[in-house]
Amino acid sequence: MATFIVLLGPPGVGKGTQAKILSEKTGLAHISSGELFRENLKNQTELGKLAQTYMTKGELVPDDVTIAMIRERLSRPDCKKGAILDGFPRTPAQAGALEAMLQEFDGRVDVVPFIKAAEGVLIERLGTRWTCRAEGHIFNEKTNPPKHDKKCDFDGSDLYQRDDDKAETVKRRIEVYYKQTSPLIDHYRDHGKLVEIDGARSIDLVAQDLLVAVKKQYV
Ligand code: AP5
Ligand code: MG
Repeated sequence: MATFIVLLGPPGVGKGTQAKILSEKTGLAHISSGELFRENLKNQTELGKLAQTYMTKGELVPDDVTIAMIRERLSRPDCKKGAILDGFPRTPAQAGALEAMLQEFDGRVDVVPFIKAAEGVLIERLGTRWTCRAEGHIFNEKTNPPKHDKKCDFDGSDLYQRDDDKAETVKRRIEVYYKQTSPLIDHYRDHGKLVEIDGARSIDLVAQDLLVAVKKQYV
């Protein structure tokens, strides 16, 4: 049966950073719904243009569109053994849809690491984040700087500040998270899948805890 790990946590807590590390360690595919929307936008698809109207306001893209996009992604061969889901599900409706999809794909959600940090930490990290234009590699001016100014260490492409990392949009994203996504914490806790991780520590320490949490339930 395929293994799916759902990374839950507020904007800026480090889901993307940790998903990349976990994907390298476990060999599972890394699927970021935000990255998929940004790729669509870069390619100027209808989905990308639609998603942008929500993303720039810090609102969630509607469930039906998001679920259809993830469904298509999960059906690809690199998800046969499972995947690390970063940013999906984000509403109770998406969590329900995921359960149904995984039954069809002979998979299940094994563990849901919930990465936490105080709001001040999130705001600080998002205000100093730099993202790679080509592949979405993630850096931070203070805590995880690139070797060369404003260039990606991995592919040399330009680094940029995401549109939705402006202070007022970050504020809205955090509100939306509390309202629409935080109910999933209790949902997965009730199902015995939640593992709480202190995300305010260094990238390496958080990664260590995550590996332990994942191994206990899955390896
Ligand atoms: P998405 O791209 O998923 O954004 P998000 O959830 O708001 O999370 P972020 O990507 O901002 O943060 P992160 O937790 O990945 O942190 P990161 O590792 O980058 O979604 C964007 C938008 O798309 C949404 O607002 C919505 O509109 C739409 N969308 C996406 N999914 C959707 C869905 N399912 N349904 C509907 N709409 C959806 O780290 C942040 C910074 O901190 C970086 O600079 C990093 O280097 C640094 N850092 C990370 N960890 C540490 C650490 N431990 N110590 C110090 N610095 C650290
Ligand atoms: Mg992210």
